[in-house]
Amino acid sequence: MKSKIINVSFNNNFENSSYQIFIGTGILSNCDKILGKFLKNKKVILIHDTFFSLEKGGNKNFINFVEAIKKSTMNVKLISISGGDKTKNIFELNRVLEKSLSYEIDRDSLIIAFGGGVIGDIAGFASSVLLRGINYIQIPTTLLSQVDSSVGGKTGINSRKGKNLIGSFHQPIAVIADIDIMDSLPKREFLAGLVEVIKYGLIKDKSFFDYLEENYKEILNYNQLKLKKIISKSCEIKSEIIKNDEKENGQRAILNLGHTFGHAIESFGKYDGTIIHGEAVSIGICLAFKLSLKMGFCDQSETERVINFFEKLKLPTSFKHIKNFSITASKILEKFKYDKKNRNNQLTFILNKKIGESFIKNDMDIDILTKFLNEEI
Ligand SMILES: NC(=O)c1ccc[n+]([C@@H]2O[C@H](COP(=O)([O-])OP(=O)(O)OC[C@H]3O[C@@H](n4cnc5c(N)ncnc54)[C@H](O)[C@@H]3O)[C@@H](O)[C@H]2O)c1
Ligand SMILES: [Zn+2]
Repeated sequence: MKSKIINVSFNNNFENSSYQIFIGTGILSNCDKILGKFLKNKKVILIHDTFFSLEKGGNKNFINFVEAIKKSTMNVKLISISGGDKTKNIFELNRVLEKSLSYEIDRDSLIIAFGGGVIGDIAGFASSVLLRGINYIQIPTTLLSQVDSSVGGKTGINSRKGKNLIGSFHQPIAVIADIDIMDSLPKREFLAGLVEVIKYGLIKDKSFFDYLEENYKEILNYNQLKLKKIISKSCEIKSEIIKNDEKENGQRAILNLGHTFGHAIESFGKYDGTIIHGEAVSIGICLAFKLSLKMGFCDQSETERVINFFEKLKLPTSFKHIKNFSITASKILEKFKYDKKNRNNQLTFILNKKIGESFIKNDMDIDILTKFLNEEI
């Protein structure tokens, strides 16, 4: 299968950085052609998910990838990190930083992040602060990371106060999304990634949402052509949105549909895997549509259509799926305070006028929100 290439560029980026996303199958074992120019004789720190550890017997895609990059540089050091949000903390970041420095990196050295969003976020953040910033490449290995976290340069870790509160904007120099690497991905993780794919249709492209509704069965069966199509479309929509707003001073925030609720829900789970990011966002998107309906922005049939689709996919859609978290409206409102979209103590939400049209709602009325939460919990 020929790989699809998407260009990511920024209109307001002073460094004028732009990069390419390569999407397809069989790319990792031939990646010296793509990455050779970046790697040539450089010191490379390959930060990978423990799942791929060579000591564990390895994974053929990962082994082929390591062989391929060795065609361009023999200077490769490996650091492994466990996947899962529990790892995305300051202690793990510190371990990665100290270990990278112990390999005597210099400013020409390069980090490669090989894993899901957790590995990409930590490795990306590490590369933004090591020696005040070195280059990195993203090799996303989950659906979620291929369609979302590897693109756009948001990097970071979680704080006890909430998700992704410590971080930086630091764009990668290339992204390779090889569909083959997802052969081993558990269904639950795949579905969680699909939530972010659906999100793109909901915020900006109704015909893409229609396509997902019509083709979801083949997508769930890992049909490679359809996967390539939905990954490409997702990356295209994301790069189009971030092009004019690299650092989220405006429209980029609509990519956060479902995430204000989602991040709060996730933090109740203490990142122990009871609920994973995409599942929390699934509930968050359904709540955002219900809130849009309640406030008169969106009609009932559109809201029901969205919730029905998530239900069909057997994704969680309401607080009743997480009863054991003992959530209350006031505890959630407390979590909302730390949302990065807030300005001047005012809460900001992403709501929808219809499927395919999200908008930024500033100055959210706390009374309406409290009433809504009390009804939903
Ligand atoms: N930076 C951004 O713009 C951005 C955007 C969206 C999400 N995120 C972040 O991404 C994270 C979620 O990403 P994720 O779902 O990829 O998480 P993850 O990296 O924890 O991966 C999920 C699970 O899949 C396993 N895994 C990874 N690749 C695999 C493979 N090929 N085969 C089998 N198992 C595999 C991991 O070990 C882990 O258990 C969250 O922390 C979220 O906040 C960041
Ligand atoms: Zn997300």
